Amino acid sequence: MRGEYRVKGAKNSALPILAAAVSKPGIHEIHDCPRIGDVFVMEEILRSLGADTCFEGNCLRADTRNMEGTVVSREIMSRMRSSVFLMGSLLARHGEATVHRPGGCRIGRRPIDIHIDGLSQMGFCVESRGEEIRCSGRCRGGRVRLPYPSVGATENLMMAALSGENETVIENCACEPEIADLQGFLRTCGFDVTGGGTSRIVVRGFSKGTHASGGAAAGDTMYFIVEDRIEAATYMAAVLATGGRAVFRNIRTEMLEEVLGVFKRMGAAIRSFDDTIEIIAPEKLKSPGIVVTSPFPGFPTDCQPQLMTLCTAAGGLTTIREEVFESRFTHKKELAKMGANIDICGKNAIIKGGLPLKGAEVSAADLRGGAALVIAGLSAGGETDVRDIYHIDRGYENFDEGLRQMGGIIERRTCD
Ligand code: UD1
Repeated sequence: MRGEYRVKGAKNSALPILAAAVSKPGIHEIHDCPRIGDVFVMEEILRSLGADTCFEGNCLRADTRNMEGTVVSREIMSRMRSSVFLMGSLLARHGEATVHRPGGCRIGRRPIDIHIDGLSQMGFCVESRGEEIRCSGRCRGGRVRLPYPSVGATENLMMAALSGENETVIENCACEPEIADLQGFLRTCGFDVTGGGTSRIVVRGFSKGTHASGGAAAGDTMYFIVEDRIEAATYMAAVLATGGRAVFRNIRTEMLEEVLGVFKRMGAAIRSFDDTIEIIAPEKLKSPGIVVTSPFPGFPTDCQPQLMTLCTAAGGLTTIREEVFESRFTHKKELAKMGANIDICGKNAIIKGGLPLKGAEVSAADLRGGAALVIAGLSAGGETDVRDIYHIDRGYENFDEGLRQMGGIIERRTCD
């Protein structure tokens, strides 16, 4: 694969930011918003609560002025884990929220105990009845320390704290760039949030009238979503897997330091300038040795499946240790159908690389695992059929088209 690709706006920013648009009545213009399945589900949620939304190109316009709903249906919650963000944003807006235990990619147990315990510590009343969770009240402020830097819990608690009368300090937060981006959006809305992107976030609630346009007062916002570092890494992995060379625009190296470090260990040549990164595949990929996934700035778990595909082509033994989710190796079985030699041993995947992959019929079981299978198909001899690509469409906008633009031989077929 060769060519140029402009990286789109980040899925993992768009979802919490769209939920956060509920916190403030107004017309929100969210630019660089990816047109992906999960964003469409978030639009449906906002509409079910009384918002108007529409896309113009990659700008999503959400009018949240007349939203009155506080209940997110069980059916819609089962379709996407990010629906859980409505707990925080509805609490900020209305002081009450009824949600259900969320669904999403089946990559581990994915409980929401950190979200619920955090809300309780902040003074909200949280009642669970079966799958239903009812929350109400106002944030009383104070200090909350997360037992683990959960990305979603950090974002949910940031939003819930907006309703507080006092200052809320959230410690041991996740530091992912998408959290700094959510903070950027909230600040654009007039809320007083600092520390996003570090392990300590301070939110000053709006009940005291600490700011002119924030809180429940109406106002319009325009915001540009940060670039999708995972989308960029996925396309880069496709370029490396096919022995190619490409230039990526709208992506900064600081978003991807660990990933680029691993690609370099595999022999890739990488040059960067401002928000452009050029990546050139080596003659033959080398094993990166041991790679361990961890919260930002560590190697992202969302790039682990794509890396596993790359390592099947790399000479030598690679160990990938998955430390974030318990069952995120579902793509292993499918890669094995294509001739990959991978052993799973607890949290470790041991890949004996260097064997050429061959085309096969495989199924995507989750979003990133599905992308990894497409990359495997592009690099394998013969034809590969990847089924259940709705998983991929949840998180990549026109993935097949993007790959085709860069020389990937791929087509989308509708099966009965
Ligand atoms: C977010 C990302 C997802 C990414 C993940 C880790 C979004 C929309 N999704 O998911 O793409 O893979 O971060 O970088 O931003 N956990 C608990 N209890 C909780 C919450 C989480 O035990 O209440 C555990 C999870 O099961 C998991 C780990 O913490 O093992 C990390 O989860 P978390 O950081 O919350 O991920 P998400 O926000 O769901």
